[in-house]
Amino acid sequence: MPTRRFKIFRYNPHTDERPRYQEYEVQVPTGSTVLDALNEIKWTQDGTLTYRRSCRHGICGSCAMTINGANMLACEAQVHTLKRDPIVVEPLRSFPVIKDLVVDMDGFFDKLLLVKPYLIVKTPPPTDKERYQSPEDRKLLDGAYECILCGACTSSCPSFWADKEFLGPAALLKAYRFIFDTRDEGVQERLDVLDNKHGLWRCHTIFNCVEACPKGLNPTWAIGELKKKVISEKF
Ligand code: SF4
Ligand code: F3S
Ligand code: FES
Repeated sequence: MPTRRFKIFRYNPHTDERPRYQEYEVQVPTGSTVLDALNEIKWTQDGTLTYRRSCRHGICGSCAMTINGANMLACEAQVHTLKRDPIVVEPLRSFPVIKDLVVDMDGFFDKLLLVKPYLIVKTPPPTDKERYQSPEDRKLLDGAYECILCGACTSSCPSFWADKEFLGPAALLKAYRFIFDTRDEGVQERLDVLDNKHGLWRCHTIFNCVEACPKGLNPTWAIGELKKKVISEKF
């Protein structure tokens, strides 16, 4: 069975003066992911190693981290595809580190709440059926509803590195998902949240978010559509 070396970021802000890297060697059976390797380290070598994970299937979004310099989901990253030796594993950049690979996502989720991630309706619902959405209307949301809120995009965005108040690509993609939902009746109040210097206009179309997204989504395109929407509503 092949053995691979992992160089892992370690830091406990409560007890450590500064971060350090620690190396481990792990046997990696065919098909191992980086999450499998982290589990192996934690369960058999060093129980103090700290990271988030839950579903192990690329669904919950909790295991996003930086692996060999790129943001990805540890549970989807196949070890055999990672050529660099040792494999370097770090927390998502630009979020505060809580411990080792665990970052504080509170600010990320606060931004999500700002864009009101729920349907806003003012008219009463039909009495005999649910609010209707045609298949064509539903299709408008393809590429927006699949987000698993892993944070990989926002962490990779240089505009967010420079302005921590920037809503970021994940929150903007969520805004798109509701603004282009034909059942929603809150477009104007939604656009008001986006149309400011920490909103839409802070995106400089850098595309890092697209490269980082493990679900293959395209926040850059969605942000472009939102910019067009703001302009068309104004003039
Ligand atoms: Fe993660 Fe992609 Fe959603 Fe960003 S858009 S939070 S990278 S799933
Ligand atoms: Fe950032 Fe993506 Fe815009 S990387 S600048 S949100 S295109
Ligand atoms: Fe859920 Fe990786 S553990 S996405």
